[in-house]
Amino acid sequence: MADIPSVAAVPPGVVSLADHETQARGVLDDNAWAYYSGGAADEITLRANRCAWDAIGLLPRVLRSLAGGHTRTELLGRTLSHPVLLAPVAFQRMAHPDGELAMAYAAASQGAGIVLSCQASTPLEAVAQAALGMPQRGPLWFQLYMQHDRGFVRELIARAEQAGYEALVLTVDAPASGARDRERRASFRLPAGISAVNLQGLGPAPRPTLAPGQSAMFDALLTAAPTWDDIAWLQAQTRLPLLLKGVLHPEDARQAASLQVAGLVVSNHGGRTLDTTPATASALPAIVQAVAGACPILVDGGIRRGTDVLKAIALGAQAVLVGRPCVYGLANAGAVGVAHVLRLLLDELEIAMALCGCATLDQATPDLLLRA
Ligand code: FNR
Ligand code: LAC
Repeated sequence: MADIPSVAAVPPGVVSLADHETQARGVLDDNAWAYYSGGAADEITLRANRCAWDAIGLLPRVLRSLAGGHTRTELLGRTLSHPVLLAPVAFQRMAHPDGELAMAYAAASQGAGIVLSCQASTPLEAVAQAALGMPQRGPLWFQLYMQHDRGFVRELIARAEQAGYEALVLTVDAPASGARDRERRASFRLPAGISAVNLQGLGPAPRPTLAPGQSAMFDALLTAAPTWDDIAWLQAQTRLPLLLKGVLHPEDARQAASLQVAGLVVSNHGGRTLDTTPATASALPAIVQAVAGACPILVDGGIRRGTDVLKAIALGAQAVLVGRPCVYGLANAGAVGVAHVLRLLLDELEIAMALCGCATLDQATPDLLLRA
């Protein structure tokens, strides 16, 4: 009998995003697990992200007419079938050989947008090709980390434009890596054959000879970090909308809005950069207020349930990003696993809307929420 390629299946009993996480712990080795699941330092922010969504209660409305309801929403001039996007997560081929391609197919099959990481382990053109061929796909965005070679950044942006990406997301909360204790304890290293392939050709960062008293952080590494001046520079390099990811302070949000960014992602990088920053659910309301509708606000961090998505929308977010659960779905069953994660979340969102008396997402308003 000819070999029939086996299609991975999600094991029975995996019925929630938390179940996917538990399952993935048995699939990923200690090295990959430390990288994907870990946060910075004492992981206080990592835990806080989850706790904050849990701490918001829902105060449902009853007897409302819900026929004809839907999860559609508008984002950057486009109608999305629902407000869930895949957060940029680096090196997905470490979780599964199909990596970013499986993510792209799965996301498109569920109408979810993709934000491809600057540190993806698959060429950005191949990921775009996978997504763009699927009619029901969501938005296709590229996440950018500023590099020391601005010419290289310009070329990378041109490549992303050429490949069909529809927006750029500059991540601003990681000019330096966080103190990743869990990774260090596990002596984390990228496996052979996995690298940030889209950054190939980028020369090594210049290493200035430090004078006595100078700092390797401030006088070397951070000389390449982006500043507010680079926002206008980036906007001048591209016809694509530019969003900023990793904003927590309302004053930064206001400044970004004044520079006419196309959107903001309220994020603490899934608790991986600065520990003890507030949970994103706690930071979101002040940013929504500061920006006052000048641009759409997205949020990520700890979103694991359809009820979390509904709470984010009720707090004023236009859409949400989901990081680790998609990686766990990928580890568990490749594209099928990611699609399953998204399907679970979207089904839960519909259930939450129905049980809260919201036929549409614009009916999810702060009066639905009970905050302690
Ligand atoms: C990330 N995140 C991230 N963000 C980014 O802008 N560029 C990147 O390359 C990465 N890489 C990355 C790797 C891993 C393993 C994780 C877990 C996260 C942050 C990510 O986009 C997002 O902000 C968080 O993951 C959201 O939190 P949850 O959903 O994972 O709790
Ligand atoms: C991380 C970087 C790649 O969180 O953003 O691992």
